[in-house]
Amino acid sequence: MSELIQPVKGMNDVLADQSPWWDRLDAVAAELFASYGYQRVRLPVLERTDLFKRSIGELTDIVSKEMFTFDDYGDSLTLRPEGTAGTVRAALSNGLLHNQQQKLWLAGPMFRREKPQKGRYRQFHQISVEALGFAEPEIDAELIAMSARLWRELKLSSAKLELNSIGTAASRQVYKQVLVEHFSRHRELLDEESLRRLDRNPLRILDSKNPALRELIDAAPLLSAYLDDESLAHFDRVQELLGDIDVPFRLNPRLVRGLDYYSRTVFEWITDRLGAQSAICSGGRYDGLVAQLGGRETPAVGWALGIERVVEVLQAEGVGAAEALPDAHVVAAGDAERRFAFKLAELLRARLPGLRLALGAPAAGFKAQLRRADKSGARFALIVGAAEVEAGKISLKSLREDQPQRLVTVEECVELLRQTRRSA
Ligand code: HAM
Repeated sequence: MSELIQPVKGMNDVLADQSPWWDRLDAVAAELFASYGYQRVRLPVLERTDLFKRSIGELTDIVSKEMFTFDDYGDSLTLRPEGTAGTVRAALSNGLLHNQQQKLWLAGPMFRREKPQKGRYRQFHQISVEALGFAEPEIDAELIAMSARLWRELKLSSAKLELNSIGTAASRQVYKQVLVEHFSRHRELLDEESLRRLDRNPLRILDSKNPALRELIDAAPLLSAYLDDESLAHFDRVQELLGDIDVPFRLNPRLVRGLDYYSRTVFEWITDRLGAQSAICSGGRYDGLVAQLGGRETPAVGWALGIERVVEVLQAEGVGAAEALPDAHVVAAGDAERRFAFKLAELLRARLPGLRLALGAPAAGFKAQLRRADKSGARFALIVGAAEVEAGKISLKSLREDQPQRLVTVEECVELLRQTRRSA
């Protein structure tokens, strides 16, 4: 036998046993987003590398060491590590921002060469929402409210909201200087990573998970003291609006995010169910990004959730997904019986769109098929034996309730399945 081909590290197969949770998340999100006026887009997973350099930032971990980049006959292309840059690129490429606002959502795979661990993968999936062309704090609050409602509808209860404002690029510049001075005074305490960040991106030192730096980081001056008045007013308003609709949050002055395009509001939903990878959904305002990518000045805000993480939290919390149990299972052994059953199944599918119907495996005997029908969780077995074929009828056996088996015509069978589906 030839050697088995191994999967790529950090890239998972999502198999059928996981699908009910993925499908439920997708369905609940799609309906919720539509109710807030968001429209779905589907975008390429490959983009020009420059797109991510110019948006996420060359000095970020993502761009400096985690991208899957390759040369395609002279073009440098990258598998998208996130969805915001591509969404803005697509809005600009297609002229969607000419005197227009856009509320868009996207779902799909993202790629980052991170060290794989629970909740952190090299191919993972995001659902992201982006509101382009909206400056008001109401839209920050509305987007956050939408995420809170999503948790409620999914029955996910462990997510806690952390909120911060990182002001405008100009106000951050002053603060960066102050931070560099603070950390430079204690250079000998910094680890290698933080020393690198000191020159390039000092804000990211605040994000360090190194416990040895805890005290030094706690002693660092706060960004909130350097925010410009407009950012402060904007942030106050976001907090007021969230208070009005009873969305609780914790102010986290150290929350800075790992992508460079943010301004003003940033937030993260975190949970204690996933170990180190605690963020299940994160986002914020990125008022400068559209212009940075060649468009006109356009305010924008959005967030993305990690599907794998949300599913893992739902499972850790014991939230079941509606399993797709069959409505009926056709049981037939023997040549003429299987031919009748095959035709019957196609007729039922045509008459009752959406009916979940399973057909017994031809190789299995009658008894084995009936056992499988019972195990499948189906409500009914539709039994086709020699007598049924002769009479042109079906024996309908309830697998969940104690009722006598009934011999019914095809028409009666359609009606019975229709009624029980309606009352289900
Ligand atoms: P992000 O924080 O990089 O933000 O990712 C958003 C979410 O994706 C995280 O909260 C996490 O749940 C999930 N995630 C990130 N990396 C991984 C990974 N390696 N494995 C599994 N899940 C992961 C963004 O991507 C921004 N584009 C969000 C945004 C949208 N901001 C504005 N609009």
